[in-house]
Amino acid sequence: MRHLFCPLGANHYGIRKRRGSQLLAAQSPETGQHEDLQTRLRNAGPWFHNLRIHGVETAPDHFLGDYPYVKWRYLSEALPADLAGKSVLDIGCNAGYYSIELKRRNAARVLGIDTEELYLNQARIVRDELGLDIEYQHCSAYDVLSIPGQFDVVLFMGLFYHLRYPLYALDRVVQKIKPGGTLVFQTLYRPHTDEGAAKPVEPDYPFWEQEIFTDPTFPQMRFFEHRFSGDETNWWVPNRPAIEAMLRSAGLRIDAHPEEETWLCTPVAVERRGKYLQQLEFEGKLW
Ligand SMILES: C[S@@+](CC[C@H](N)C(=O)[O-])C[C@H]1O[C@@H](n2cnc3c(N)ncnc32)[C@H](O)[C@@H]1O
Repeated sequence: MRHLFCPLGANHYGIRKRRGSQLLAAQSPETGQHEDLQTRLRNAGPWFHNLRIHGVETAPDHFLGDYPYVKWRYLSEALPADLAGKSVLDIGCNAGYYSIELKRRNAARVLGIDTEELYLNQARIVRDELGLDIEYQHCSAYDVLSIPGQFDVVLFMGLFYHLRYPLYALDRVVQKIKPGGTLVFQTLYRPHTDEGAAKPVEPDYPFWEQEIFTDPTFPQMRFFEHRFSGDETNWWVPNRPAIEAMLRSAGLRIDAHPEEETWLCTPVAVERRGKYLQQLEFEGKLW
């Protein structure tokens, strides 16, 4: 199954992996209903998101610990507590952890998209169990322009590096953010250091420049022909300066970095001369 592996090792978060059954039941005595639920959740696996459904955990043995709570606990503080009236697009939603959390913050509309039926099925089971009004749709990050309208909050998390055409997708994704809206962007990066993050990028470099090509703090993205972390869809691993350079280059302003792999951005220059950057690029007229 693809995408079961995620970027960082559990040790990175200082979290000890829990051992136990694949699905962890609540401590309280199980009712027949609980057993039913456990069976249904087990049959819908394997799970990448650890969700708690009526006391049952879906991925208690996740190699990153309590995932994605380990990220959400920081991200949650950076997002508005009340999203009343706001719309959310969760790209690569998986089993819907973030969709659920944002719906719980009163978002008027939450749409989660993914290309894996396994995960969409999980997301729908969980949504129905929790009685939440969340839409899930089979749709690729590359096809977001087929979704009508724009969204106040767009999540593009844990997907960039899984794509062979990451900037193509990012340049589409930014078109789905309302003016003044927020992109929540998360990606794996290596090496895991802040070095160079704040280093300014020069407006130009001479043709015979050598040094920057061996400077680890210069923006760079490594390509994996076969696998990274056992996953054949982990194509690209950027360093942190590259992530920030690519976000800026896509017309985004970086507003916050609430979690080590997560950035909050606002679209500020995604259009030029009345056209999106991607459209100009396709026409060969970006510059
Ligand atoms: C590592 S998981 C990240 C899940 C979630 N966004 C998170 O951050 O926890 C990557 C997810 O992207 C989905 N995915 C892979 N390729 C996709 C594509 N082209 N368009 C939309 N989703 C895709 C996978 O099925 C998987 O659910």
